Amino acid sequence: MGGSELLWIGKVILLLQLIPGILGWGKDGHYTICKIAQVYLSEDASVAVKELLPDSAEGDLASVCSWADEIRFHYHWSGPLHYVDTPDFRCNYNYSRDCHDSAGHTNMCVTGAIYNYTRQLMSAYNDSNAASKYNLTEALMFLSHFIGDIHQPLHVGFTGDEGGNTITVRWYRRKTNLHHVWDNMIIESAVKMFYDSDLSMMIQAIQRNITDGWSDDILPWESCSLDQTVCPDPYASESINLACKFAYRNATPGSTLEDDYFLSRLPVVEKRLAQGGVRLAATLNRIFTSQPLISQE
Ligand code: ADE
Ligand code: ZN
Ligand code: ZN
Repeated sequence: MGGSELLWIGKVILLLQLIPGILGWGKDGHYTICKIAQVYLSEDASVAVKELLPDSAEGDLASVCSWADEIRFHYHWSGPLHYVDTPDFRCNYNYSRDCHDSAGHTNMCVTGAIYNYTRQLMSAYNDSNAASKYNLTEALMFLSHFIGDIHQPLHVGFTGDEGGNTITVRWYRRKTNLHHVWDNMIIESAVKMFYDSDLSMMIQAIQRNITDGWSDDILPWESCSLDQTVCPDPYASESINLACKFAYRNATPGSTLEDDYFLSRLPVVEKRLAQGGVRLAATLNRIFTSQPLISQE
């Protein structure tokens, strides 16, 4: 390959990285959620996950948790599965009203995708054809990514501003948009300012918070109503609530967001990363539990 071709490829890669807002949490957010999840996996789930992971993951779920963003332009249909948008300023979420793509196709949203990939993985236990019917490796990578996305408050945002993507703001001196602030900037700034530019230190701090400060919250976070395997709807309701209370508040178009905004929103981001990790593990534990006997009476 000639030098000019290499330069051209480099420019395209750089340009793609500069397009803000269209991906989920940034790489760091998804990595954090999946690293936390791995700590809470049961033995059964851990074995099943390792069997499904691609060889390139070398047994590390976190290494593939941004795969769904990497293939988003190749699997064009998957774009709407990363978020669900709600009517402007209503601050609530309703599956049958909101879970559709812009052409109105139902179930084409992040909550619909979480139900779908959970169903695919579950069916592998009940139906021996499932492994050939579905790509269960992809199902696991999609599910792990989308449970992360749904915990980013602006992935359940207003339709009119595309979850903050069209709200131009400054993050300190940098021009960006509100969605990108929540996907990347809050985490990046925190890693730089409080964790010596080392993401693993931030992950450790969140893990310590889960076992110390939030230990009483773990069971309620994990629990799923009506003994369901997965329950993305309450997570979406929480996200649009947080979007209204924290993300959109004081972040009008053209505003500059700095210390006040950063320091008051960082605890929200850290808690959402913790909840995302704990709930991803709880979901995978329910999917991959050894099937109990139907009746022991
Ligand atoms: N595109 C449109 N709405 C979006 C959202 N809430 N999050 C990410 N991308 C989007
Ligand atoms: Zn995003
Ligand atoms: Zn995403």
